[in-house]
Amino acid sequence: MTSSTHITNRRRIAFGAKDELMNMSRTKYQWATEIYDRMEANTWFPKSIPLGDDRVMYRSGALNERERNAFDKALAFVSNLDGIQFNNLIHNIGQHITAPEVSLAIARQASEEGVHVRSYQFMIEAVSLDPESVYMMFERDGMLAKKNEFIMRSSSVLKDDPTPENFARAIVGNVILEGIYFYSAFLVFYTLARNGKMLASADMIKYINRDEGETHLDLFTNMHHAFKAENPELYDEQFRKDAIELIKTAVDMEVAWGQYIIQGGFLGLTNDVVENFVKGLANKRALALNLGEIYANVQNAVPWFDDFSKPNGTRSNFFESKPTDYATDGLEW
Ligand SMILES: [Fe+2]
Ligand SMILES: [Fe+2]
Repeated sequence: MTSSTHITNRRRIAFGAKDELMNMSRTKYQWATEIYDRMEANTWFPKSIPLGDDRVMYRSGALNERERNAFDKALAFVSNLDGIQFNNLIHNIGQHITAPEVSLAIARQASEEGVHVRSYQFMIEAVSLDPESVYMMFERDGMLAKKNEFIMRSSSVLKDDPTPENFARAIVGNVILEGIYFYSAFLVFYTLARNGKMLASADMIKYINRDEGETHLDLFTNMHHAFKAENPELYDEQFRKDAIELIKTAVDMEVAWGQYIIQGGFLGLTNDVVENFVKGLANKRALALNLGEIYANVQNAVPWFDDFSKPNGTRSNFFESKPTDYATDGLEW
């Protein structure tokens, strides 16, 4: 066994030996490098999506009061959420990761959350004469404040008490954040765009959605399974119950929020659609974490969502790009 092989074999997702030399020629977690490659392939620039038409449409009153209220509240929440996630990755999750290839993917994810923060800045500035009022909407909206606080409290558990147990829970929290929380907002933007309203904003959201729903979610789902394989004692029955409880609480909040912002509904977006859509997402995430399906009898409430959410109406070419065939000879797993 060479010494470099030995070092690579000792790599751990988190709380392992530090490898600050970032030897990427030998990697233990090939999925992390493959996700990083996909993130690079998905590179996009928010400034290349002109929002002038949306500015005119929004300010000319083309949205009725309900649509406008939902648009404003959805935008306020997602902009707050991406800010929270940017800081969470850098100051919280990222601090405890000890595998270079996973660190790189997390750093890239944080940078993409930064791209999203910029996207929301441009979207907010396009429609609002007072951007501060959008960022600070939680000061006037108790429901938004409650939702933000819950998400921040979940991520601060690891900050206050950085243990492997809390890291395992933080991974589940991130799967929820990337794979459930953004989606009632995305649904508002897509519902409007399917009806010819705020098309450029929806285009921006499609790129953000691709980052959150594919690579970011995939990264944390893989981290969950790898961290579990390395720390099986943490994933006992209590963990399973707590994880399911966390997902259910998130679903309750997201459904309540989604129904609150549509104020009875518009353009086919109803309270039932919101509830079934969010519960369907939760089932998918729970299954991906091997927690089993949580909700029975969930309708496929938005069958058009996956197709509609593809940037420019087509799936990006990342499925065609193959992960690099990393040499694994001499490695022990
Ligand atoms: Fe994001
Ligand atoms: Fe994300």
